[in-house]
Amino acid sequence: MLPPVGRIDMLRSTRIIFALLLSCTLAPAAEKQALAEDVFKNITMFKGMPAARVIPAMDALTGLLGVECTYCHVAHEWDKDDKPQKQTARRMFQMLEYLNHDHFGGKNRISCWTCHRSHGKPPQFPEDPRRLEQARRAMPIAAADEFKPAEQVFHNIQALTGVPAGELPTIMAYFSSALGVECTHCHAAGHWDKDTPVKQTARKMLAMADATIQRFYGGLSPLGCPDCHQGSIKP
Ligand code: HEC
Ligand code: HEC
Ligand code: HEC
Ligand code: HEC
Repeated sequence: MLPPVGRIDMLRSTRIIFALLLSCTLAPAAEKQALAEDVFKNITMFKGMPAARVIPAMDALTGLLGVECTYCHVAHEWDKDDKPQKQTARRMFQMLEYLNHDHFGGKNRISCWTCHRSHGKPPQFPEDPRRLEQARRAMPIAAADEFKPAEQVFHNIQALTGVPAGELPTIMAYFSSALGVECTHCHAAGHWDKDTPVKQTARKMLAMADATIQRFYGGLSPLGCPDCHQGSIKP
């Protein structure tokens, strides 16, 4: 016969506490530490992590996202996957690993905080209509060219090929406000087609965003430059 549910919970938490104590006191020793998957029931992303680090990691998550445990869990049913936020969090961990590993040379340059900043969903970044007017003035496009591919209208388009030329001012305004910079942060004034190191970095960032969107959102995504930059040059 199965013990009553309360008893299972108690047994489980005793086991957890015991395992936590064990792994804390034995942590530096060469003995095998209790692993997350040995102590908890439904571990996929924390496989191989010492069990003692799971709860501190959970605590950290609540701070990074500015939420309670119950944003991702039904209280005390920690192993269940019934909240979509828990599943999303797992996917986010994979995205984080991918970004840091494939695009930032293994340096942990990106964290949940980079995009979330204590919000369950990354905060919306306001558009600035003055930026668009400024861009339209700086790069006038003849009406007949609006729908031609950018590479036919401009001189040095490598990343935005196929994009209608008339969209370029919107994109340039978006870059400027996402990073909180003037056009000349990336361009030599008046020589828009000339490459600068920062312009090259911007192209790499475009490729990174594209690859991430393909991989994690099947091509459709709410993810963009402002999610990490949020108005500053270095997130
Ligand atoms: C942003 C979402 C999120 C928040 C907030 C969060 N968790 Fe979790 N939690 C997860 C995910 C995802 C897993 C699964 C980890 C894995 O697959 O390795 C998990 C796993 C757990 C587990 C292991 C359950 C098992 O037996 O498999 C416990 C215990 C837990 N969380 C407790 C907490 C507590 C306590 C808090 C609040 C301090 C909390 N969590 C906050 C997402 C979250
Ligand atoms: C590169 C930016 C970025 C990073 C880094 C990032 N997120 Fe997200 N996150 C998003 C975006 C954009 C959304 C909204 C779209 C979606 O649900 O996928 C989101 C949504 C979520 C949601 C769902 C919120 C809801 O209410 O539906 C959770 C939970 C979450 N993220 C957890 C995390 C965790 C945990 C980490 C760190 C492991 C993380 N995110 C890192 C961009 C990011
Ligand atoms: C974050 C960097 C960044 C900012 C800020 C920026 N640009 Fe650009 N711009 C680029 C990149 C990268 C390209 C090349 C795109 C490609 O290769 O497809 C480009 C291309 C252009 C081109 C096409 C040049 C040619 O002939 O090939 C024009 C014109 C231009 N930008 C104008 C502007 C204006 C005007 C602003 C300010 C409103 C601005 N840009 C802000 C990065 C930036
Ligand atoms: C996943 C998060 C993330 C996204 C999305 C992102 N960036 Fe970045 N970006 C960074 C980080 C982190 C740095 C700083 C790199 C460093 O110095 O270590 C950076 C640096 C830059 C720089 C160099 C700034 C300077 O002057 O040093 C440019 C330009 C840039 N990003 C443009 C963009 C553009 C344009 C987009 C959208 C296509 C974008 N970024 C999207 C994380 C991101």
